[in-house]
Amino acid sequence: MNNRYGTLASWVYNLDKPVGRSFGDIEYYSERLSGCAGPVLEPAVGNGRFLVPILEAGIDIRGFDPSEEMLGYCRNARAAEMLEGRLSRQTFEHFNYDTTFAAIVVPLGSFHLITDVAVARSVLRRFFDYLAPGGQLMIDLDAIGGFLGEGGRVRSWTTDDGDLLTLTDARVSTDFIAQTTVTHLRYELWKGTKLAGTELELFSLRWWGVEEFAMALREAGFVDIVASGNYSYGQAPATGCDTISFEARRPV
Ligand SMILES: C[S@@+](CC[C@H](N)C(=O)[O-])C[C@H]1O[C@@H](n2cnc3c(N)ncnc32)[C@H](O)[C@@H]1O
Repeated sequence: MNNRYGTLASWVYNLDKPVGRSFGDIEYYSERLSGCAGPVLEPAVGNGRFLVPILEAGIDIRGFDPSEEMLGYCRNARAAEMLEGRLSRQTFEHFNYDTTFAAIVVPLGSFHLITDVAVARSVLRRFFDYLAPGGQLMIDLDAIGGFLGEGGRVRSWTTDDGDLLTLTDARVSTDFIAQTTVTHLRYELWKGTKLAGTELELFSLRWWGVEEFAMALREAGFVDIVASGNYSYGQAPATGCDTISFEARRPV
């Protein structure tokens, strides 16, 4: 199974991107979401890097994620009562709630994890269905340049016990027609000179063109589509931008 975010992958994610680590997105969305008249949903909530500070900023947000390991880090991040009833184990493809939302926000490129374009379109439609009339969809995508590197990097983190976690990535395929990449992420846990654990994650992503994504949003029924570069609302994305933030509205 691809994009599983298993034990070592989640551990590394939590060391590399702990609760509150911002890429500019937490400040940006704290402001964009501040006037929301209703609950907010974060699909693919992960370890709560984004959800917890947004909740602490006073926004009524809940989230789902299929990785029990990632949700475990989120649950342990703050007092259990603060997160009570806010987290569930679900996927983009099949999530269900008995309420609609004033906004749905998908930060940090998680939407790229959906590699089948037909599935991606049906997920956009599902987002539409779960927004209240007038509700806002907010999705951050990475610029295409971020997908075209060779890979081959080795990174490492020290655990609280002084052990070493390493991550080696190797790009194994790029499909320029389907706009997808597959990367092998090899995680290793080293205790002194001994290898104590290892995990291979098949990591698949799909990139989108800016206009292509705007068209997919329109096709799903959204209006008032705004694409902004590098967290400057309304500033059209330009060459050199790393992050493209889309906002689109479900008509009233
Ligand atoms: C890059 S992390 C993002 C975590 C968090 N949103 C953040 O901003 O830090 C991507 C998350 O997507 C989740 N994920 C993978 N496949 C998914 C799917 N089919 N549906 C929903 N989430 C999925 C992973 O478990 C992981 O926690």
